[in-house]
Formats: sequence, C-alpha cells, structure tokens
Amino acid sequence: MLRTLQDQIIQLKKEQDIAILAHSYQSPDILEIADCKGDSYALSVAAEKLSQQTVVMCGVRFMAETVKILSPEKKVILPVTDATCPMAEQITPERVLQFKEEHPDYQVVAYVNTTAQLKAVCDVCVTSSSALNIVKNMEAKNILFIPDKNLGSYVKANVPDKNIVLWDGCCPVHNSVTEAECLAAKQAYPNAKLLMHPELPADVLQYADVVGSTADILKYARQSDEDCIIGTEKSIADTLKLEKPGCHYHLLSKKLMCPDMRITTLADILKAMKGEGGDVIELDETIRKNAKRAIDEMIRLGQ
Ligand code: 13P
Ligand code: SF4
Repeated sequence: MLRTLQDQIIQLKKEQDIAILAHSYQSPDILEIADCKGDSYALSVAAEKLSQQTVVMCGVRFMAETVKILSPEKKVILPVTDATCPMAEQITPERVLQFKEEHPDYQVVAYVNTTAQLKAVCDVCVTSSSALNIVKNMEAKNILFIPDKNLGSYVKANVPDKNIVLWDGCCPVHNSVTEAECLAAKQAYPNAKLLMHPELPADVLQYADVVGSTADILKYARQSDEDCIIGTEKSIADTLKLEKPGCHYHLLSKKLMCPDMRITTLADILKAMKGEGGDVIELDETIRKNAKRAIDEMIRLGQ
C-alpha cells in the first residue's frame, strides 16, 4: 500500500530520532506532523529542550540559525536552501560596526529576523512580542534599531524616553499593506476586531484594535469568539479557520503571503530527512558565540 508523505515522515522521525519544528506560517499539513510549532522565538527555545539530536526547522534560514546558535551540539537542517527572509540581510555587519565606531554611546538592537553574522555584532536581539519590554528594560538611552523600521517605529512610539534611530529595512510582505485596505476592511466587517503585526507600517497600525506578534494574534483570536480581521501572514487566518470553523477570520490584504515561508513542502522535508536536500546549518564558532550573547541578553532583559 502506498504511504502518504506524512506517514513516511512520521516513520522516519521515529527511526532516526529526528524532531520537526514548524513556524506558525507553515502550511497545515506540515504543522500536523511537527513536534513543536510556534513563533520563531518559542521554537528556538523549545529546540534546546528536545532530546532529539537532529532538528528539521521548517521556516526560513534565520530561524534555523537561531536554533543552531542556541543548540550547537544538534544537527539543524533547513529543508529548502532558498527559504530566506529578505529582511534578514537588509544591513551588513560592516555597516553596524561602522555605526558603532561613529556612535560609541549607542547600543544596537537587532530584530531576531537577522542573520547570525548580524546578531554577532549587535548588543541585544528582540522578537516582535518582546521588543517593547526589552527596549524599556535596557540601560542605554541611545539605540540603533535594525533592520525593521516598522517594528522600530512601533517601539519608538511606545518607549518615548529612549532616543531610537531606525534603519530603513522592512518586511516586503507586511510593508505592502495600505491605509486604504484597512479602511475597506473595517467598512466591510465593522464588528470585527483588527489584529495587526508590528511589521505593518505605522500609518496602518493606527487602525489596529490589537498589535501583537504572530503568537499574540493567535492567542487573542483563539480566546475570543469575535470576528477578526487578520493583519499578518495568510497562514494565520487559515489556521484559525481550521481550528474554529464557527468564527469568521478575514485577511486584511491579499498581499499578506510570504513566498519564503510558503516554499517548503512535505516532499522537501522528507528529502531533507533522508539527506537528499536542504542545508545542514554550520556556523563559525566565534560568530555563534557572539550571536548567542545577543540572544542571552534578550532572554535576560525580557524577563
Ligand atoms: P515571529 O517572530 O512572530 O515568529 O515572526 C516571524 C516573522 O517572520 C514575521 O513575519
Ligand atoms: Fe521575512 Fe516578512 Fe516573510 Fe516574515 S513574512 S519571513 S519578515 S519576509
């Protein structure tokens, strides 16, 4: 009898003691066979606690790198080589070092959506759910926030006592949403709560009922019986529709589809597990240790 791809993956997981991690933006068939699912931060922390020595990270490259930074003894596999987040390389490590040299009184805050090389030259990492808290808790008053100008300006607006300089990066998917789309969605669904990711532009965020990370948006919608307009990647609306078919979830904009997050398939995962595709993440040990320092600082300041 022909076995499905899911069955083959589940069997190979057991035979080879492999864990599968899947970001919440992955497709439902991948989320179903994952040992852990969640946002990028939750996944990397979960990976540290897994007994399996091999981890397949279904998401984009910076997520697999973060797992490797925190769990260097594990073999970390990214199933599709081309799955990268364009925001992760919108500033070079050299440019960060130059800024630090010119501005010794500044600390550099890096969104977790950055390469390991970038994290290694920054002072602290943040995630979309922890950014406000961490920046508030930092001793430094002067901060360069990289690379996302949208998350950075959301932090700047909410932590007014800090002097925050923004880099001109952004997520091309979230940044594409316009004010006109918000007004149209609010008019079409006047009773729905508008839930928005802070990677959306500031002029759009003003219409939000709730601003939060992927995990925050999922949590809010799961606990609520209200209709919701989802202002983040389409997969979150799809997941909610499957979980709560009685509720109405409307996507804020048709453009909210990340090609890099959607590229991975069950077939890619199976191939990667067999050693026939994908990338095994290798990091220079000095870069890994320096990047870990910025992540450890995120954990310390986020408490
Ligand atoms: P999270 O940090 O919420 O997992 O989001 C990652 C991301 O790429 C959002 O676009
Ligand atoms: Fe990167 Fe945006 Fe895709 Fe998230 S949605 S992985 S930030 S391009």
